[in-house]
Amino acid sequence: MRVLSGIQPSGKLHIGNYFGAMRQHLQLQAENEGFYFIADYHALTTNPVPSVLREHTFNVAMDYLALGLDPQKTVFWRQSDVPEVTELAWLLSCVTPMGLLQRCTSFKDKVAQGLSPVHGLFAYPILQAADILIFDSNLVPVGADQKQHIEVARDIAVKFNTIYGETFVLPDEHILKSVAVVPGIDGRKMSKSYNNTIEIFEPENSVKKKVMQVVTDSTPVEAPKNPDTCNAFALLKLVAPDAELADWKQKYLAGGVGYGTVKKRVVELLHEYFRPYRQKRQDLEKNRDYVERVLCDGARRARAVAGQTMRRVRDAVGLGGIRNA
Ligand code: ADP
Ligand code: TRP
Repeated sequence: MRVLSGIQPSGKLHIGNYFGAMRQHLQLQAENEGFYFIADYHALTTNPVPSVLREHTFNVAMDYLALGLDPQKTVFWRQSDVPEVTELAWLLSCVTPMGLLQRCTSFKDKVAQGLSPVHGLFAYPILQAADILIFDSNLVPVGADQKQHIEVARDIAVKFNTIYGETFVLPDEHILKSVAVVPGIDGRKMSKSYNNTIEIFEPENSVKKKVMQVVTDSTPVEAPKNPDTCNAFALLKLVAPDAELADWKQKYLAGGVGYGTVKKRVVELLHEYFRPYRQKRQDLEKNRDYVERVLCDGARRARAVAGQTMRRVRDAVGLGGIRNA
């Protein structure tokens, strides 16, 4: 099964990205043909500073590699190193009804957050469809927030196949088993755009500081507490073994435990979880040439597949001269 997913280099990756998406991407690579990329074309829709975009892209690469992406097995590349997707995006644009894009909620959400309503942001789902379709992807593992975009990719593929004949594989979404939304330190969804993240590889003392700042209510220590609405408990759920979690749940319901104690345990468990990967992350930081080579090799492998699809697609729509092939 070919499994494809992308992640935007729109900031430093955080534990919400890890537990919500990356961990499962990494698990899926074992039994599938993994195609994972860093969506830097998509990140341009929010007009980042060029040097910052380049740095974030590289950081995402180092994070994935440190956390266990196997570049021998999985094809891993920078989206913009395979420019064929932008050509496909244009061809798909020409069959995509405006209404399909107008119904997408992410454009409206992002504009409501203050982003400039540029055309790239509006057409974002078409480029995403091109990412998926150009690699004949069977399965696209994403968070629930991306479900609509995968449906759009299918709709576009069906439309294209109806007009031009069977050209694209119809992808299925694989909604990642939700660890629920990971809350940020302010209690909203942890997100690179809210400045409320705990980065996977920030120094341990800074992780500690941030966890201790996580917003909790003012229930006194002795009083019973609700684990289901508590941000500290939500973090504990990510890293505590089941038996320990059940124990904490009892303590919440019975009262007598303070949020500070819970947070201290979250810190310990987060440190334990990520410590084995920190050394690898530091080594990669010192070996940027290796990281660049991995990305270039991934791009070469990805381009071979994309090039084949594009020959098929260009033929289907009537582009190019007569080929003798
Ligand atoms: P961000 O909001 O930080 O910019 P993205 O939108 O780039 O994150 O998300 C990348 C992936 O990480 C998506 O699959 C998304 O579902 C997942 N993800 C992001 N934030 C969280 C979160 N707080 N909890 C769970 N999953 C998340
Ligand atoms: N839009 C996705 C996100 O923000 C990133 C992405 C771009 C993607 N192209 C993709 C995800 C193709 C899956 C498949 O998370």
